[in-house]
Amino acid sequence: MPKAPRGTFDILPQEHVYWKYVEDKANSLCRLYGYQSLSTPIFEDAQLFIKTIAGGTDIIDKEMYIFADKSGQELALRAEGTAPVCRAYIEHGLFNLPQPVKLYYIGPAFRYERPQAGRYRQHHQFGFEALGEADPALDAEVIEMARQFFDSLGLSRLSIHLNSIGCKLCRPAYLEVLKQHYASYIDHLCPDCKARLIRNPLRLLDCKKTSCQEIAKTAPKITDYLCPECQLHFQSVQKYLGAMNIPFHLNPRLVRGLDYYTRTVFEIEPREKGGQSTLGGGGRYDDLIESLGGKPTPAVGFAAGLERIILNLKKQKIDIPSLPKPDAFIAYTGEEAKIEAVKIASELRKAGIAVILATGDKSLKGQMRQANSLGIAYALILGEQELSKRSAMLRDMRSGEQKTIPLSEIAKILKPR
Ligand code: HAM
Repeated sequence: MPKAPRGTFDILPQEHVYWKYVEDKANSLCRLYGYQSLSTPIFEDAQLFIKTIAGGTDIIDKEMYIFADKSGQELALRAEGTAPVCRAYIEHGLFNLPQPVKLYYIGPAFRYERPQAGRYRQHHQFGFEALGEADPALDAEVIEMARQFFDSLGLSRLSIHLNSIGCKLCRPAYLEVLKQHYASYIDHLCPDCKARLIRNPLRLLDCKKTSCQEIAKTAPKITDYLCPECQLHFQSVQKYLGAMNIPFHLNPRLVRGLDYYTRTVFEIEPREKGGQSTLGGGGRYDDLIESLGGKPTPAVGFAAGLERIILNLKKQKIDIPSLPKPDAFIAYTGEEAKIEAVKIASELRKAGIAVILATGDKSLKGQMRQANSLGIAYALILGEQELSKRSAMLRDMRSGEQKTIPLSEIAKILKPR
């Protein structure tokens, strides 16, 4: 019996209450900040991710779903949302629009990870990207927008961690001193970090192994090596965050799991940390669009994982509004009444009234039990006696009150209820 693949899961109707809640908040947030939605394909040319996320990161080295299609083209399931947005920005000439272009997306991403709570092989991201603007006020706005998103969901006790990882001018000098620091501990490094030392030294700071974290504690700080422009940018971001009263923690060891970032990087996580706790992360990626063949274009963005958000909504016991129930249930006795019931159900739905029509050959008692279990407020009962008078019984399922109403007035009576 086939099952959902490891690291993936079905979202059952009762879970969709959460999904709809989060998606509605995301859509309202984006309207508030002037972001428009953009959808990109679920698979892309594999090179899009290989070029932008870069080797030496877990995502590229271990987690990509890469396959050749029947023509032999190498494709990859979407591993994240930023590179596809940048590809679309170049491909559709969005750089010709007034800048910045502000776009958002909600959709699945795929990473071949070891599944555990909060970490899946298919997860869903809500992300937003502002392309074509270098102003540090926009970095601060993106951080504030992320914070506003979590606030609107009702999530509390979250912290914002902030850092600057410099630019292609100042980072190389930092990487040299970082490598020297780690080289003096070479025998104590885990096998992954030995490889990182050669391929992607910045990622050394992000190793989760306790022994490597000890070495990170005494590592030189990138913020001591920023060029004057990156320094000023970082200070400005902090100044604007201060103006908006957004608290944040400076974390000079914060680096992200993707390689395209420049200057500002940030992550948001619950104060009580645990395993896969980061709810969202983002930052500036001023070189990404150029690396894909576009003109040099500064950009900044953020993405959050919907599964982790929902885990936290449950953990923090946030009250989620339930999804609307159907307006009425239609029950009947006998074939003649059933024909009338089919007709009435069709007419009511055309009038915008949500109805469930009893089906099968349940007794009237069985039909009413069904209406009750669905939590529907009103039931219409069509019996032979009522039909002969072109009327139906309307029953308030909560109070048990019943009254006879003419068939011609059902829609008029139900609509305001
Ligand atoms: P990311 O940090 O790789 O960033 O992913 C964003 C969020 O997606 C994470 O903070 C986490 O909540 C969720 N997430 C990632 N992997 C998994 C997984 N395996 N299972 C469950 N949830 C997961 C990005 O993807 C960047 N594109 C963010 C960005 C946008 N940077 C600039 N703009």
